[in-house]
Amino acid sequence: MAALLAIKVVAGLAAAALAAVLLEHYGLAGPPSPLPQLRAPRSPHPAPGPGSRNIFWGLQISDIHLSRFRDPGRAVDLEKFCSETIDIIQPALVLATGDLTDAKTKQNWGSRQHEVEWQTYQSILKKTRVMEKTKWLDIKGNHDTFNIPSLESVENYYRKYSAVRRDGSFHYVHSTPFGNYSFIALDASQTPGPKRPYNFFGILDEKRMEELELLAKESSRSNHSIWFGHFTTSTILSPSPGIRSIMSSATAYLCGHLHTLGGLMPVLHTRHFQGTLELELGDWKDNRRYRLFSFDHDLFSFADLIFGEWPVVLITNPKSLLYSCANHEPLERLLHSTHIRVLAFSLSSITSVTVKIDGVHLGQAIHLSGPIFILKWNPRNYSNKTHNIEVTVQARVLFVMIVLIQLTILITFRHRGYPEHKGPPGFINLTSFSLHVLSKINIFYYSVLLLTLYTVLGPWFVGEITKGKLGCCFSFGIFVDGHFLQGSLTFIVGILQLVFFNIPLMAYLCWSLLQRCFGHNFRSHLHQGRYLKIIPVHLLMLLLYIWQMCSCYFLHMTYGTLAFLFSPLRTWLTLLTPLLIRCVWTLNSTELGVFIVQLKSHLSS
Ligand SMILES: *[C@@H]1O[C@H](CO)[C@@H](O)[C@H](O)[C@H]1NC(C)=O
Ligand SMILES: *[C@@H]1O[C@H](CO)[C@@H](O)[C@H](O)[C@H]1NC(C)=O
Ligand SMILES: *[C@@H]1O[C@H](CO)[C@@H](O)[C@H](O)[C@H]1NC(C)=O
Ligand SMILES: *[C@@H]1O[C@H](CO)[C@@H](O)[C@H](O)[C@H]1NC(C)=O
Ligand SMILES: *[C@@H]1O[C@H](CO)[C@@H](O)[C@H](O)[C@H]1NC(C)=O
Repeated sequence: MAALLAIKVVAGLAAAALAAVLLEHYGLAGPPSPLPQLRAPRSPHPAPGPGSRNIFWGLQISDIHLSRFRDPGRAVDLEKFCSETIDIIQPALVLATGDLTDAKTKQNWGSRQHEVEWQTYQSILKKTRVMEKTKWLDIKGNHDTFNIPSLESVENYYRKYSAVRRDGSFHYVHSTPFGNYSFIALDASQTPGPKRPYNFFGILDEKRMEELELLAKESSRSNHSIWFGHFTTSTILSPSPGIRSIMSSATAYLCGHLHTLGGLMPVLHTRHFQGTLELELGDWKDNRRYRLFSFDHDLFSFADLIFGEWPVVLITNPKSLLYSCANHEPLERLLHSTHIRVLAFSLSSITSVTVKIDGVHLGQAIHLSGPIFILKWNPRNYSNKTHNIEVTVQARVLFVMIVLIQLTILITFRHRGYPEHKGPPGFINLTSFSLHVLSKINIFYYSVLLLTLYTVLGPWFVGEITKGKLGCCFSFGIFVDGHFLQGSLTFIVGILQLVFFNIPLMAYLCWSLLQRCFGHNFRSHLHQGRYLKIIPVHLLMLLLYIWQMCSCYFLHMTYGTLAFLFSPLRTWLTLLTPLLIRCVWTLNSTELGVFIVQLKSHLSS
């Protein structure tokens, strides 16, 4: 049960794009697109590998519709998004693509600007300090311009309360050591802004088109450009040659506006003739959607997500075939890549990231840094057809759950009096009786409690973690040379330790105490003639103990003598366990007296 509850699985599905790489790259997949090539041809390097450079990620949120009359949850959740979600994902930038406010009248069919809705928006940005944590780029949607006579009007609250506060389209460059990335905001909102419903379409006049063309040209030196706006291109009226042609150098156009069309169209993604992806994002208003996108070695990928659902997973290499575009991306880098790369975020830390391709287990990705996980692969093995890649992410919940269950049992029995038992001494009654004995005798209670707490909190060992660098290993990660490597594998080891040693040891102690309460000592219980029942228990414990000894040996082999000597959870525990077990069997029977009486009365009742 614990496993089912605890293993939160997210399968990110993406068809590996490798077949397409070969075909498109060598011009075999239909006629080449008539794109005016704005950017210099790209080299197949740097290709995705084991480095933590050449990658950044951002978020998009759309159609928030903060409302004075309806659903205060929109604001509450937005605040949580700006604090919790942003803190965990740490995006380089956030695009808020319009309809920040609802601007409807109480009866819902009228429309006007409410200053209080804008104040709510601004107070959330201020209170959460989200603008200090990331670049927050917000633009107007049609609701934000309902019923505004002119841009100069005081009712144009966007000027006063937004993060950008500047009307019109603009160009923001995200500069990194590995390249420049352009984000072009497309403002197609109407001025003056009519009341609803005559505000459903965006309009671009000649002047705005010229401005946009200029921004497009400016961005041609960047590695990539992303356009973002409120309206889908199908709801923008623009003069020839049309807005799609103006944005043809963009890798993607991120927008909102249509929500999910009342649930009819949960996914509104298309590709323009020139190769630009148009990715509409579902709304925050009712569906709490947001989007994570990334550029990894100049390959674009994204995932549409639901607020509050963790873990969040994005496979950045190989990128999805469906959303690949040879005009805009150096797809051949996929073939030169040496590692599968995954971004994984969770509220609790992540214990494992497992990769499967076509249902075949490929291995555990290792933690690189931040949210980046990598796994070595050979892309040529997948260059023939399309393939499915599936990534499973487990958080540390399982580890914590096991610990909590064990501690709860121990502490409950410690503080519960001996209940007057009724019914026959079945397995459950005897188990509960033995737990009662274990938790009431100080030496055993504190030993088991301490062992489990120590497994969670204490240093497992100190040793040479990497060549020449001393470090200290905990369940939640490793400190080495002034750095902290967050645990992923350590949680797995912790779970193994609990399941294959701590808990069996506790069970063995309980069982031994029960034998003592029946009036046996070590010798006499062996002579009862119930060998078949008794020997397997001792053998099992012996096996687990040998496993523990082996892990000491492996510790010695991998991390050296120092780690072997300074390892409370391995060597020390291995030495202490026999003492504890000896203690059970040599316990002075007067100390057990009260329990023996209890058991007798229990058996005779
Ligand atoms: C970005 O573009 C520059 C110049 O073309 C190039 O040197 C660099 O490798 C690119 N960055 C990435 C991550 O490909
Ligand atoms: C980014 O743009 C700046 C200013 O145009 C330029 O100096 C720099 O070389 C660019 N960086 C890369 C990696 O292309
Ligand atoms: C790809 O297809 C060719 C011909 O069909 C075959 O010889 C080759 O083994 C295949 N490669 C892989 C990696 O499956
Ligand atoms: C990829 O192919 C090579 C040789 O063809 C093979 O040795 C290797 O195991 C394959 N890797 C995977 C992950 O299938
Ligand atoms: C048990 O302890 C009592 C007093 O604490 C002592 O008198 C008795 O001799 C002990 N019994 C054994 C078997 O050690």
